[in-house]
Amino acid sequence: DQVKKIDKYLYSMRFSDETLLDIMQRFRRELVSGLCQETNTTATLKMLPTFVRSIPDGSEKGDFIALDLGGSNFRILRVKVSHEKKQTVQMESEIYDTPEDIIHGSGTRLFDHVAECLGDFMEKHNIKDKKLPVGLTFSFPCRQTKLDEGYLITWTKRFKTSGVEGMDVVKLLNKAIKKRGDYEADIMAVVNDTVGTMMTCGFDDQRCEVGIIIGTGTNACYMEELRHIDLVEGDEGRMCVNTEWGGFGDDGRLEDIRTEFDREIDRGSLNPGKQLFEKMVSGMYMGELVRLILVKMAREGLLFEGRITPELLTKGKIDTKHVSAIEKSKEGLSKAKEILTKLGVEPSHDDCIAVQHVCTIVSFRSANLIAATLAGILLRLKENKGAARLRTTVGIDGSLYKMHPQYARRLHKTVRRLVPDSDVRFLLSESGSGKGAAMVTAVAYRLAEHSR
Ligand code: BG6
Ligand code: GLC
Repeated sequence: DQVKKIDKYLYSMRFSDETLLDIMQRFRRELVSGLCQETNTTATLKMLPTFVRSIPDGSEKGDFIALDLGGSNFRILRVKVSHEKKQTVQMESEIYDTPEDIIHGSGTRLFDHVAECLGDFMEKHNIKDKKLPVGLTFSFPCRQTKLDEGYLITWTKRFKTSGVEGMDVVKLLNKAIKKRGDYEADIMAVVNDTVGTMMTCGFDDQRCEVGIIIGTGTNACYMEELRHIDLVEGDEGRMCVNTEWGGFGDDGRLEDIRTEFDREIDRGSLNPGKQLFEKMVSGMYMGELVRLILVKMAREGLLFEGRITPELLTKGKIDTKHVSAIEKSKEGLSKAKEILTKLGVEPSHDDCIAVQHVCTIVSFRSANLIAATLAGILLRLKENKGAARLRTTVGIDGSLYKMHPQYARRLHKTVRRLVPDSDVRFLLSESGSGKGAAMVTAVAYRLAEHSR
């Protein structure tokens, strides 16, 4: 009864398969227009060429450093790939802080910080005297014409560092390292986190040709036929394209499914009017979406006997981690009670059930929307291959996908429904994107050695 009432209240967040298929078609049209030279600048899908032309083939080897910047953690890794009989990978890593004042400060400070952490890492791991090739996972949209260059188009998610947009992040990092002068590093490649994830998973499964992130932000890349990528010369073979699907809908094409809550999230964000799809689905916004719904319901007397507290009214008080906890099948309701009690709203048992259901609707909507866009990519691959049945692997990473108790299952199920003639394997990247970035670096390094 409580559940039915909420279903009705939030009906605009629940989608039929018909609607999802419609969204999938809109997405496919955007994808094609992003690939075409004439429409690329106006398309909401940036469809960025990555200059990664194949997944790992098993011949990569060497000693590398991978930097992983832009997700919820800033990580530095040493990745050793050796080749005795079988290819094996050894990894060591450290996590570093990226304080808010740095990611909202100047670019110089940000890259000085990154260079300082790298120096610290090399010191700790006794490699300061080596000039190891470095691969950078940088999880923001970058314009590339080769592997070791990446012009930041715009910041997204939590980052808003001045003086970096329009600049080549490889150059900025190199400059910061040179300025210190206490170690050397050779930045060979910059990859988006979706690409790093696809490559990490491709190491274990040769069939992997899609990488997706459902974490702080959301995005996907996939292997496209080179002949379809207008922005890059050549017709033979394939290249990985970073779709930047977080920007889907930035031209108003999703207005019919956006709610008042989505608009409010957007208004209070660092980048109003941008990344509208991302704001409906990703981890950075989901908890806040739930909070806004609860505030409205409490105002209308539908929850907490109308009690509204300063905590409930405070932005950020409900986190996506909380949503995940509340949706756990066993302890979910007691978690709901605990979290709501902390907000001071004195929830009844019925309130807890209601809030749990609100969380389910919001996170289910996210999984459904991502299923629709992912289905669009899968159909594209199927078309490109001209196969009657698609057999493929999708590499995935991101805190929301990993930590939410039901998210993965819902996503897989919906994708399989939307793309019936397919065998899709979903492969979680257990080791993040660093391993994949190292694989790209290995190839770049080998090519550079050859041409020396
Ligand atoms: C990590 C990857 O595992 O997941 C990063 O190594 C990626 O490259 C991140 O950005 C995405 O998830 P989140 O939840 O940290 O944004
Ligand atoms: C944002 C970024 C994108 C990244 C994604 C996941 O959407 O723009 O580049 O891949 O977040 O981290």
